[in-house]
Amino acid sequence: MSTPLTIGILGAGRVGTAVARQALRAGHTVKIATGRPADEIRLLTEVIVPGATAVGREELRGSDLIIVAVPLHKYRSIDTSILQGHIVIDTMNYWAPVDGIMDEFEQGASTSEVIAEFFGDVRLVKTLNHIGYGDIEVDSYPAGDPKRRALAVAADDEQAKQMVSAFIDSLGYDAVDAGPLSAGKTFENGTEIFNGRHTAEQMRALLDTCQKVLAEV
Ligand SMILES: NC(=O)c1ccc[n+]([C@@H]2O[C@H](COP(=O)([O-])OP(=O)(O)OC[C@H]3O[C@@H](n4cnc5c(N)ncnc54)[C@H](OP(=O)(O)O)[C@@H]3O)[C@@H](O)[C@H]2O)c1
Repeated sequence: MSTPLTIGILGAGRVGTAVARQALRAGHTVKIATGRPADEIRLLTEVIVPGATAVGREELRGSDLIIVAVPLHKYRSIDTSILQGHIVIDTMNYWAPVDGIMDEFEQGASTSEVIAEFFGDVRLVKTLNHIGYGDIEVDSYPAGDPKRRALAVAADDEQAKQMVSAFIDSLGYDAVDAGPLSAGKTFENGTEIFNGRHTAEQMRALLDTCQKVLAEV
């Protein structure tokens, strides 16, 4: 098994709880918080994510990784003070029919570049955004299994990217380096990577094609 980590999860919805359960199976310690006090999510956590600890968001500080799984249209309500100095996974996607038109995400940059600027002193890594919440626990396979699915990982901080890649591997997925945070565009909503299920080899080929197209624009 990989090194057990303390994983902080902000957002106890569909994605947050599915990732939490899979992280527990992988042997990690999981703390889970929302915008509400811990008391208000304790019962939900005990029932839906047995083994995880419901905490107030401040108690996510000190986690090895913090995973943000909050609807993107609510990103400005996130208490960014708790994230400072941490490695943070951005799972969030922009989908105008649900989030409403948000000008900052209509300018052509990766949504994670906008989020990185808003979060401040955070080592932001984009991944886990392009797998449905219902697949996270059922589509994982051991390393080397030909059915193993790949997840793209983009970040400007190489060390953070490596740590998150090891975490993704522990969840049962091949982490494929997609490049810097700006390359997150290649696996956002509407892309072929976002819409499909790919092995590592297929993912690398798709990323190569996307990056060539982006370089020509
Ligand atoms: N659904 C999918 O299959 C899928 C897959 C990959 C990625 N994503 C992305 O993951 C993100 C979350 O999606 P979801 O489907 O899990 O959403 P969801 O089920 O609506 O859950 C959202 C969670 O965020 C919490 N939250 C809202 N505002 C918050 C704040 N300011 N601080 C802390 N927690 C807050 C909510 O709790 P309270 O309101 O009680 O605070 C709730 O627990 C979205 O951006 C989505 O695009 C979704």
